[in-house]
Amino acid sequence: MIAIRPMTFDDYDAVLALMRGAPGVAVRAADSPAAIQRYLTRNPGLSFVAESDDRLIGCIFGGHDGRRGSLLHLAVAADFQRQGVGRRLVERALAGLAAEGILKSHIDVFADNRGAIAFWQRLGWVKRDDICRFSFNNSSDPNV
Ligand SMILES: CC(C)(COP(=O)(O)OP(=O)(O)OC[C@H]1O[C@@H](n2cnc3c(N)ncnc32)[C@H](O)[C@@H]1OP(=O)(O)O)[C@@H](O)C(=O)NCCC(=O)NCCS
Repeated sequence: MIAIRPMTFDDYDAVLALMRGAPGVAVRAADSPAAIQRYLTRNPGLSFVAESDDRLIGCIFGGHDGRRGSLLHLAVAADFQRQGVGRRLVERALAGLAAEGILKSHIDVFADNRGAIAFWQRLGWVKRDDICRFSFNNSSDPNV
């Protein structure tokens, strides 16, 4: 049986291992233990993990800025994909956001991640062609 539950900081090592093994998920300095602890504290109850027996096989981070929601780092272990786990994780995060009054959310997807693009479109998410994402690195570390 696959169970979904809120992520805690104790899940950090297993979540990072899952993310590192997932093509299409970028792990940066911004995913350090201190940064993830801060993220979970600022966005309580909006990030989730999926477990099968005692193995962590899925994760998603959810948060908001008071206005729009953002999801990140969705990953499902390869041997558990196409069983509805990704959909369940997204549904839990969106339900948590909706409970806080956040009704529209965004996700960044690498443009060459065709599987993820198909997944998000299957779930009804709309690919934006009217917006360009700009980023600014306020440091000398390209991996910040
Ligand atoms: C993208 C990912 C999270 C999907 O997780 P998943 O558990 O396999 O997805 P689900 O089983 O919940 O699929 C939900 C729907 O999307 C469809 N779907 C999932 N992956 C798909 C793919 N690669 N191509 C086409 N459709 C896909 C499923 O068929 C399903 O449709 P259905 O409900 O009509 O049957 C998973 O493939 C993954 O971890 N990929 C590597 C990391 C990654 O790219 N993460 C996304 C970063 S934005």
